Amino acid sequence: MDQQANNALNSRFIALKICLTVVENGRSLSQSLPEGLAQFSDRRERNFTQNLVLGTIRWQARLEAIRAQLLKKPLKAKDEDVNQLILLGLYQILYMDTPEHAAVGETVAVVNKLKKPWAKGLVNGVLRNFLRDKQSICDEVDLKPAQRYSHPQWLFKALRKAYPDQWAEIMQANNEIAPLTLRVNRHQQSRDEFLAKLSKQGIEASAHPDSEHGIILNQSADISQFPTYEEGGFSVQDGAAQQAALILQPQADERILDACAAPGGKTTHLLEVSDNQAKVLALEVAEERLERLAENLYRLDLEADYQVGDASQPDQWWDKQPFDKILLDAPCSATGIIRRHPDIKWHRTAEDIEALVETQASILQALWPTLKPGGKLLYATCSVLPQENTLQIQQFLQQTEDAEEIKLDLSSAIKLPTPGSQFLPGTHGMDGFYYCLLQKKQVQ
Ligand SMILES: C[S@@+](CC[C@H](N)C(=O)[O-])C[C@H]1O[C@@H](n2cnc3c(N)ncnc32)[C@H](O)[C@@H]1O
Repeated sequence: MDQQANNALNSRFIALKICLTVVENGRSLSQSLPEGLAQFSDRRERNFTQNLVLGTIRWQARLEAIRAQLLKKPLKAKDEDVNQLILLGLYQILYMDTPEHAAVGETVAVVNKLKKPWAKGLVNGVLRNFLRDKQSICDEVDLKPAQRYSHPQWLFKALRKAYPDQWAEIMQANNEIAPLTLRVNRHQQSRDEFLAKLSKQGIEASAHPDSEHGIILNQSADISQFPTYEEGGFSVQDGAAQQAALILQPQADERILDACAAPGGKTTHLLEVSDNQAKVLALEVAEERLERLAENLYRLDLEADYQVGDASQPDQWWDKQPFDKILLDAPCSATGIIRRHPDIKWHRTAEDIEALVETQASILQALWPTLKPGGKLLYATCSVLPQENTLQIQQFLQQTEDAEEIKLDLSSAIKLPTPGSQFLPGTHGMDGFYYCLLQKKQVQ
């Protein structure tokens, strides 16, 4: 076998192994993908494999529905490897610019590595039958929106109920590739200075329309090669995520709690905005994630106190000094960041949402007494589901006499008749995010 054929086989085999760990073993793509890709030294091969994996996971439900049209009897659970290989082949035919005959031939060749000789004819037959009848099979599959947009049925129904006019747009945006967005460390340089440095290196980027510290890259790139990376001149952060610090406007010497802080994207922005002068306590329940927060503080040359702790148990970590401001970036379904983590669609279930809603409510209730009268708490999630967002806050406001909403004017968020502001995925290239700013009333 020549080198090119060997590379083609290797990429597809590794892509198959990564997909299997996600679909069969329930591992997250953010764990499995970097591990799998670490085996490649060649950049092109690595990129091809990454695109193949992300696309096959993103389009899993549509590909599976196509497979079901072609092979009426599903494969046995022990042959999920063969099933995923068929989906990888279908993805290449439909979405990649690999010539069709190569997509089929190179996918079939992977069967040799599975030690299931019986599957060779099957994979070949299914993919060739698809080529013969592609349009009519896709038309049939696309009649069902959950299949057309490749979402689990429960999530499709939840989105349709919450957004009767926008559900299709949201599902479509969830299947797009998110742009690379950076946040300039304004403690070190201005956005214009950074844009000029990038332009000098031939890197095309533009100012973010929704964040005064944000820039959007026009192409994907290796950011570790960008000017000022080592010195902490910028971070990777979505434009909607950048709104947290812009809304809270931390000031010098304010005591600020970042209650669910790791890996520190928002903690570090809070510090940058206050010129490293705010007194931030970053709390995080997962110790290993707190290490990443510490690394980010170090790289960006910022200072905060940080500690492991459960935000719903202030008795364990609170020194009884009330906070001026609190950021609660709550654990959530992450349904607003499906573009970046397409496996969320298959790992999350409707039951998970109920449990998350309870956790969020308990953290919110527990943190409220730690806020000063007159102080502000920003509730945030990267979810698009009303239960975790506006309904959650509505309930909190009903139960909490001394809490009131401060209305935000976020021009790219949709206007809700209920509390808070909702960014939908895809607006100006941003993630789906929810924000609600609450204030503790002053005692009379
Ligand atoms: C949405 S992420 C936070 C992202 C972070 N704010 C940022 O911008 O980089 C939610 C975090 O909350 C943490 N978490 C979950 N439950 C928690 C709890 N009860 N107390 C503190 N942290 C918690 C999770 O481990 C996770 O790191």
